Amino acid sequence: MLQDSFGRRFYYLRLSITDVCNFRCQYCLPDGYQGQAQQFLSLNEIDTLVNAFAQMGTSKIRVTGGEPTLRRDIVDVVASCAQTEGISKVAMTTHAGKLASLAEPLAQAGLKQVNISLDSLEPAQFALLSGQDKLNAVLDGVESAIVEGMNVKVNAVLLRPWAEAQLRDFTAWLKDMPVTVRFIELMETGQHKAFFKSHHVSAEPHLAALKAQGWQVLPRGKDAGPAIELAHPDYVGRIGFIMPYSSDFCDSCNRLRITALGKLHLCLFSEQGLDLRESLESGNVQAVKDFVASSLADKKVSHYLQEGITGITKNLSMLGG
Ligand code: 5AD
Ligand code: SF4
Repeated sequence: MLQDSFGRRFYYLRLSITDVCNFRCQYCLPDGYQGQAQQFLSLNEIDTLVNAFAQMGTSKIRVTGGEPTLRRDIVDVVASCAQTEGISKVAMTTHAGKLASLAEPLAQAGLKQVNISLDSLEPAQFALLSGQDKLNAVLDGVESAIVEGMNVKVNAVLLRPWAEAQLRDFTAWLKDMPVTVRFIELMETGQHKAFFKSHHVSAEPHLAALKAQGWQVLPRGKDAGPAIELAHPDYVGRIGFIMPYSSDFCDSCNRLRITALGKLHLCLFSEQGLDLRESLESGNVQAVKDFVASSLADKKVSHYLQEGITGITKNLSMLGG
């Protein structure tokens, strides 16, 4: 089992399969994806990678991006992950713009969970924040994923000055929506320091307000990530908070990340990516295992984001959150 020098265990891999995205979220790619067409990991390379991680104790894979559904072989990627021995859960992070038609084949390929990036339930606000007037398509995607029996989570990044409206609208929506909405505190990234300053809001007072309204914090599972989850007897859905600036955020870290170009990032805000591409290209599972196991010794105890250190992470489209 992969374990670091602070006793944290890593059974969860976040695998980016493309940097490309066709949305323009203000805190991520406000001018749209600007990169060149690149050689993102092939299906064979993904297969090598996932086998190596599975042999080291990884049981959960999240396919992420960029926007993973922009890859034409997305269903094959999910199927390949799901069929790997040792992998019990395959999840995906998506903007859900294409999910309405993809949910069924993805579910058949073995996708168990989708985390849908959705910052507003108000059409004009949604268009302003994401650069795409596609709220209805996204909501159809949410619906299709529920119909397919997937575990559905919605990620909403809390933003000044809309946070109150976000809290109010999403909470009302959860009365009869069987999903978990996770409010994420905006994280500072290298490209968006000014946006962070003007738009970051603390989740703390909103969490306190919900508790005062009868929302109860659920006990955290042993292997749970950093989200705090709440439930309320009058609501079908749940609420979560992800507060990367809280002091114990990194204590429960259980994940490693691979970029779409085959670099291992020990943290969302690492100073560098560690290049695995050669071993992936040659299909050398053992070399991948050796490289990852030895790299883990360098994993730091915290992201140091509180100190404004954002590493090489220019925006989250290069790592998928
Ligand atoms: N801060 C917080 N969350 C972010 N995301 C993207 N960029 C940021 C940021 N700077 C979220 C997206 C998506 C997930 C992958 O990460 O909204 O839901
Ligand atoms: Fe695309 Fe996700 Fe970045 Fe929005 S946050 S631009 S959906 S990669």
